[in-house]
Amino acid sequence: MAEVYVNHTENYYKCVSSASELMDNELTVSHLFRSGRFTKTGVPYGQVVASKLGIPAFSGNPRILEVGPGLGDVAQEIINALEQKDFHYTFADISYDAVGSLKKRFRGGCFSFITGDFLKEKLSEKFDFIICNEVLADFPTVVNMAFYRPKIREGDAETYFDALSLAKFYGLSFVKPANFNYGAVKFLEKARASLADGGKMFVCEHASSTPQRIGVFGHAEYTIDFAALSKVAEKLRFRSTEGGSLTELLGVQDKKAVIFYTQPELKMLYNFFKDQGTLLDQKPYEADEVVAILEQNEVCFYNKKAYASFLESRAKSLRAITGQFEYLILGA
Ligand SMILES: C[S@@+](CC[C@H](N)C(=O)[O-])C[C@H]1O[C@@H](n2cnc3c(N)ncnc32)[C@H](O)[C@@H]1O
Repeated sequence: MAEVYVNHTENYYKCVSSASELMDNELTVSHLFRSGRFTKTGVPYGQVVASKLGIPAFSGNPRILEVGPGLGDVAQEIINALEQKDFHYTFADISYDAVGSLKKRFRGGCFSFITGDFLKEKLSEKFDFIICNEVLADFPTVVNMAFYRPKIREGDAETYFDALSLAKFYGLSFVKPANFNYGAVKFLEKARASLADGGKMFVCEHASSTPQRIGVFGHAEYTIDFAALSKVAEKLRFRSTEGGSLTELLGVQDKKAVIFYTQPELKMLYNFFKDQGTLLDQKPYEADEVVAILEQNEVCFYNKKAYASFLESRAKSLRAITGQFEYLILGA
């Protein structure tokens, strides 16, 4: 029987040397759609989340917690959606550099910052809104989880037995060894306890029917089983549950786009420019736009038209990307 062990990402995130490196190595959907250019309504990602949660219409001054905010693009859009209304926004991220750059970007008494592993933080406050975008897959996953007499990697027994009792409590069974989104379940429990009455929570992540390993730069993550997560949410007595595909939520246009991150030959160019001190913007482009950007950066083409068609032929369907993601909105 395969050995049971716990997949962690905390060492990777604690060691990231700059916040923008996060986005260079691992492009997120909120970053990709932060301009709203490729959504049907032209609304940026963070604003879609804000209106879906009813943040602008909230009566009173909302207390918002964002877990794993990264660069803070979702936060920026949520704050924009609040217009001039008072609010309090708490950022909780495990990466020192992410929190450092958030502190520079968001200044003033309406912001608080927590640096550390969210699952280990003691929270005394309640929040009206909790947002957790593309972080669930980073929380610990118990790999090869089995109910009966498994071989457990040294050092992981305590987590395994905790995972076992959680799985039993929430009615999740493992007939065959499978991966278990242990940290995501712990997150739901913790966030539920920190959500004020009437509060709402938004989570979004790469989804699949059973958690699958994704190798990313410097670490591995596990996709999220949203059916299991909904089962946990039901037991945690959330008053409302709504979820579905991110493609629908954002209204993603049926278009192909050139994205540096997903096209290996462009990733090389991206890294080349970065070494030269020019940071190209990681967002979706039309092929002609990429050619123009490269020209501005003094790249010479043997055949410009042919290169544009090559880029176009390798472009990615935006819906194929967002189609892999699901979201869940839970009301307390
Ligand atoms: C994939 S990035 C997502 C960033 C951002 N939410 C976005 O949508 O672009 C994951 C973020 O979660 C943070 N993170 C990972 N594990 C965490 C943990 N256990 N507690 C708090 N933050 C964590 C990382 O430092 C990083 O900022």
